[in-house]
Amino acid sequence: MTVSSAPGKVYLFGEHAVVYGEPAVPCAIEVRARVGVERRDDSKLRVHADDLSLDGFTVEYGGDADGRPDIDVSESLLVAATQYVDSAIEQVRDVTGEEDVGFDVTIESDIPLGAGLGSSAAVVVAAIDAGTRALGTTLEPAELAERAYRTEYDVQDGQASRADTFCSATGGAVRVEGDDCRSLDAPDLPIVIGFDGGAGETGELVAGVRGLREEYEFAADTVETVGDVVRNGEQALAAGDVEELGRLMNFNHGLLSALGVSSRSLDTMVWAARDAGAYGAKLTGAGGGGCIVALDPTDETETALSFTPGCEDAFRAELAEEGVRRIE
Ligand code: PMV
Repeated sequence: MTVSSAPGKVYLFGEHAVVYGEPAVPCAIEVRARVGVERRDDSKLRVHADDLSLDGFTVEYGGDADGRPDIDVSESLLVAATQYVDSAIEQVRDVTGEEDVGFDVTIESDIPLGAGLGSSAAVVVAAIDAGTRALGTTLEPAELAERAYRTEYDVQDGQASRADTFCSATGGAVRVEGDDCRSLDAPDLPIVIGFDGGAGETGELVAGVRGLREEYEFAADTVETVGDVVRNGEQALAAGDVEELGRLMNFNHGLLSALGVSSRSLDTMVWAARDAGAYGAKLTGAGGGGCIVALDPTDETETALSFTPGCEDAFRAELAEEGVRRIE
């Protein structure tokens, strides 16, 4: 078995606005997806996922679209995860030239699905890395990030930014603007996550922002203002000024709220974190439900969130310096 893991991420700044060419700053966190692969004698792909926040589930692909099993829609998140793996293995076949290779794939993930923590990117990065290594090829992080981006692009019908996959492959804090992705120096941030147990519909939320932007000039201005917040955030990050980072995260959340992508549970968690004394808090990712990210070096925010109605899980997450990790 060849096993790789890759981290999830939070957006410190800039989700949604990044779709319109503004910069964004995601940051990898020590919450990981692990993918193990074993080469098969045939060209089939068998995916087993134990803990993707759903019951253990196994699906077997016959190798083409027609061979796909009929799966209950309630399993749609896991089906999505399986589609990501399917497409990731296509990249493995493409890189290695082994077009007929099949794998048994096992996924274990500590990252809630579809909740703004980059679960799909982590699974894709780890799957491509493990799959290529199983065939004797080790990819550089930049190539791995590019292949993972292509995978997300394919599965999401062209609606993907490079942020999640680059961040997961390389680790650390990164700056993304269009096709340009680079690593940033970042202090050890006191990150606390609150999770409402739900997930947002990324496509719908992105479409909602697009609609507002087309209808109202002030919505377009709001998107540009997010870009200004991000540029200020980069300076605060470089200066290691965590208090300023928190203030700017609060500002960023307000702008995302104005763009209609927050939710009652996300707002409730954001306010619980602020009331507990966090430097700042905002939703992370597409929004609509899922996770918030707060900065608090004390235990107060984590404790407060764990007593907040609508918050299903609260935990501290270290910044992940390391992106993809080669386990065996
Ligand atoms: O929820 P996530 O982690 O998939 O992030 C979505 C981020 C958006 O900016 C809303 C969309 C994108 O592709 O950048």
